[in-house]
Amino acid sequence: MSKKYKIGVMPGDGVGPEIIREGLKVLEVACKKTGVKYELVNYDLGGERYLKTGEILPDSAIAEFRKLDAIYLGAIGHPDVKAGILEKGLLLRTRFELDQYINLRPVILYPGVYTPIKNKEPKDINFVVVRENTEGAYCGIGGVFKKDTKDEVATQLDVNTYKGVERCVRYAFELTKKRNIRRVLTLVDKANVLTYSGDLWQRVFYKMGEQYPDIKKDHAFVDATCMWFVKNPDWFDVVVTNNIFGDIITDLAAVIQGGLGVAAGGNINPEGVSMFEPIHGSAPKYTGKNVINPIATIAAAAMMMDVLGETKTAQVIENSIKNILSSGKIKSMDAGKMGFSTSEVGDLIAKEAS
Ligand code: IPM
Ligand code: MN
Repeated sequence: MSKKYKIGVMPGDGVGPEIIREGLKVLEVACKKTGVKYELVNYDLGGERYLKTGEILPDSAIAEFRKLDAIYLGAIGHPDVKAGILEKGLLLRTRFELDQYINLRPVILYPGVYTPIKNKEPKDINFVVVRENTEGAYCGIGGVFKKDTKDEVATQLDVNTYKGVERCVRYAFELTKKRNIRRVLTLVDKANVLTYSGDLWQRVFYKMGEQYPDIKKDHAFVDATCMWFVKNPDWFDVVVTNNIFGDIITDLAAVIQGGLGVAAGGNINPEGVSMFEPIHGSAPKYTGKNVINPIATIAAAAMMMDVLGETKTAQVIENSIKNILSSGKIKSMDAGKMGFSTSEVGDLIAKEAS
């Protein structure tokens, strides 16, 4: 008997429920077609729940998460909740507790999608950012002293462990090998200023690189990377970087691939439970309007199937996205400008996948 996956679904805040609904619509038909079985467990967590009960992420939910095969997340962030509470308490806590040490963000320009970068085509924009996801400036270590005075001191530590760097760089080398496209791995850092952490990343990168003689080792500073992503995105195959740099450069990367409407990401623990999400936020002003682009969330479902090892299902979803996009039916990737509603875009892709 084939396996039945247990998938946790966290629609979250704002437009989260609308996009997750479309993602699940496509997942259902693709899994039916390929014979993949799953059950869904809904988690009603997010801003609304927090405002009602004060609860962000109960320990019991974390314990349940550990028994799942994957988590499918909509978006976190509520206009009535102070920035940082839900982000840290729900999203980052899940990443940390489940040790999802890789944040995988493919940057693919699909045919038929507008890129603001002149003269670039899908063949020029096809790379993946491997962002370290459990350390760096995100670890929450630091503090404040003499708050609200002119002597106030605030510190926020950037933590880089040998183990954390090594497993992230290993993942990136293996991914570059598996993709087998241009076989270039680019380390992005700021080692000209952040010399201690930069040195650790570089030593691990070049030492491990000796085990991958067929992979070209490249390096770029993070500020220059922002320029190259715009000028020469075709130079990149796989990029590996720390948590905060990865966060920043992937918003830029999302724009060159057509916008946040199409950019998906995976929070991956290769040995454990991974979580998949669109990289955009909860977009409160579009909530309930049925105008947001669900493609990023649908693409996140494809990533989820791929990481679970259901590559056929992943391909069905991905090809359906590609076919609909290259048909030129969808006028824009931006909310409200697609020429279709959120649910109509979901319907088009679901029909294609059936
Ligand atoms: C992302 C987001 C999060 C991050 C926020 C919401 C905490 O920007 O997934 O990129 O900084 O990692
Ligand atoms: Mn971000």
